[in-house]
Amino acid sequence: MRFLKNLFDKNKKWAEKIKESDPDFFTKLSKQQNPEYLWIGCSDSRVPANEIVDMMPGEIFVHRNIANVVVHTDLNCLSVIQYAVNVLKIKHIIVCGHYGCGGIKAAMDNQEHGLIDNWLRNIKDTYRFHQDKINAIEDEQEKINLLCELNVVEQVDNICHTTIVQSAWKSGQELAVHGWIYSIEDGILKDLNVCITNQEEISRIHQIN
Ligand code: CO
Repeated sequence: MRFLKNLFDKNKKWAEKIKESDPDFFTKLSKQQNPEYLWIGCSDSRVPANEIVDMMPGEIFVHRNIANVVVHTDLNCLSVIQYAVNVLKIKHIIVCGHYGCGGIKAAMDNQEHGLIDNWLRNIKDTYRFHQDKINAIEDEQEKINLLCELNVVEQVDNICHTTIVQSAWKSGQELAVHGWIYSIEDGILKDLNVCITNQEEISRIHQIN
């Protein structure tokens, strides 16, 4: 109970396996990280960032929360974005949602879920923006999946509206913000084709001169 031996055993084997193929792997990595990507994804245990895109430690900077939401005042997420953009100089920010997301599902019902309702309200806002389109669908699962996609698009916008991203663009830094969705059922990623790469692509009201 106090010591999770199986996890430490697995860790030892994992580190040994990596060292077998590249003896200097951890030594090199301990000196610096140089990832090109920031991944903002759902906390769901079935959506592990590195594994999905088959990347090694050091290749992807990660932030995960319930339903991959980027809230304007979330210091945690904003700090991650700031560090990734300003210090690591990552070139791509990826918001990756997933179909059948429990957070999205919970945001679509009218029940009380406790503290998390404050978080889910952000998703209810996105629902409200698109309610005509979502309500026109009959199938419950399809409704959820559409909101899963729309939520990703909304978060791509939210990232681009930050002063962090806009300042980077203004200074000439190359930075693309992508929206993807992952299917737990077959392990396949889909690009939602909402990539934003400069200030002119965001709504005028959000552009900061
Ligand atoms: Co989820």
